[in-house]
Amino acid sequence: MTPKPLVPHVRPADLNPDRLPQHVAVIMDGNGRWAKRRGLPRIMGHRRGVDTLKTLLRVCRDWGIGALTAYAFSTENWGRPLEEVDFLMTLFERVLRQELMEMMAENVRIRFVGNLTALPASLQAEIDQAMAKTKDNQGIEFTVATNYGGRQEIVEACRRLADQVQRGDLQPDDISEERFSQQLYTAGLRDPDLLIRTSGEMRISNFLLWQLAYAEIYVTETLWPDFDLTEFHQALMAYQGRERRFGKVNV
Ligand code: FPP
Repeated sequence: MTPKPLVPHVRPADLNPDRLPQHVAVIMDGNGRWAKRRGLPRIMGHRRGVDTLKTLLRVCRDWGIGALTAYAFSTENWGRPLEEVDFLMTLFERVLRQELMEMMAENVRIRFVGNLTALPASLQAEIDQAMAKTKDNQGIEFTVATNYGGRQEIVEACRRLADQVQRGDLQPDDISEERFSQQLYTAGLRDPDLLIRTSGEMRISNFLLWQLAYAEIYVTETLWPDFDLTEFHQALMAYQGRERRFGKVNV
């Protein structure tokens, strides 16, 4: 069965289409608190969080934002209670299975980044299938950071480059920023222009440490399950009000 096409979200008129971020990254924080405030188990917050993410992905695509990257599970998240970790792994797997047709219909290319080999085998299989199936889609690049750690990503990139040097395939002087980024999980993906973090914390928590070098950071007190279209619109308005200088001076 082919999913019904959804009515596209109309971009608000006060957003300048020429100054939209081309890549938005999100730290989806506050699912647990959202659930707790309602007397629900934490996992209910994650469930609602998936709905928020699905809506955001569709809005980005409809408004002409070419890439969305979401922090779904950090290398530190293994320290959560076992039931919550198990729930999240099963949730990722189920969402992938259920949404694959929709992603094809909406021209989404999905990619997972992180140390994927440590994930349950059944999830890895689902990830491989989704990445292979959607690899030629060009509507939007959707990247999910899972078992992801920014420092680990950088260390792995260094190892690979050191290996090339040791084999005599690369001169240390030839290691440039460009070559370095090609060794990251995100090789080929442009750096985020805007990082949104929900639920008020002012940190980047080991997320895309290299890639976020010049991103504008927007933090909202709103918890992730409540982050809706109005909130996203506000974040984009704030972004458009910023002056991006990339370390230079505007005269
Ligand atoms: C942070 O809230 C949220 C997470 C660690 C999980 C986010 C994952 C999803 C929304 C599912 C995404 C699914 C796919 C397939 C991409 P928290 O639990 O840290 O909240 P708290 O800070 O209030 O405790």
